[in-house]
Amino acid sequence: MLIDILTLFPKMFENVLGESILHRAQKKGLAGIRVWDLRDWTSDAHRSADDKPFGGGPGMVMKIEPVWRALEELKKSPEGKARAAKIVLLTPQGKRFDQKTAKRFAKEKRLILICGHYEGVDERIRQMADEEVSIGDYVLTCGEIPAMALMDAVVRLIPGVLGDDESIVSESFERGLLEYPQYTRPAEFKGKKVPQVLLSGDHKKIEEWRMAEALKRTKERRPDLLIGVKSKHGKAD
Ligand code: ADE
Repeated sequence: MLIDILTLFPKMFENVLGESILHRAQKKGLAGIRVWDLRDWTSDAHRSADDKPFGGGPGMVMKIEPVWRALEELKKSPEGKARAAKIVLLTPQGKRFDQKTAKRFAKEKRLILICGHYEGVDERIRQMADEEVSIGDYVLTCGEIPAMALMDAVVRLIPGVLGDDESIVSESFERGLLEYPQYTRPAEFKGKKVPQVLLSGDHKKIEEWRMAEALKRTKERRPDLLIGVKSKHGKAD
């Protein structure tokens, strides 16, 4: 997968792309991630990428020209030319990002992420995007952190990125449930014991316990997720 990020704050991505899963995915050649400074497509001496809103009002609005020019150039770039790109604008007004969307995006060959300006983007930028995505009902100062969150959630789903493919199968949301409780050594810490069943070596019992715990935890914390799960697992009540 090729991911192009259009941003006003390219430095924000340096550490995130150099660590952990995103780094590993690039090293394995499973994801190519390129960060582009939108100011490189501005045309004035001040490299201004935003301007005052027409009609007045507070704040600045992200301009259309740099984004348009960047998209035109990226679409023509030799590395990405052959791959149809899904253009995603990160904005609090977008559709809420979830695991289902992450899976859908993980199947794309190319994503172009536009990091929106916190004070707003020219409405015509929205029209250039295929989808608008929000990472939750709160406002961050810019779309960079949402772009990182989206990228992390998507890239780890690309086959081969995670070492142990099993870990995706049991994690939260994969089965429509939150993940069961996990423990590691020591078996007892300051009187707090690991459930006996996990030490029993009985794999069938462990699997049953985990499913029951996942259901219990989901019911307690996220009952909304259980709508539609009943038929799959038979005991959501
Ligand atoms: N930009 C600012 N807040 C955002 C959010 N919640 N999701 C996506 N982009 C944003």
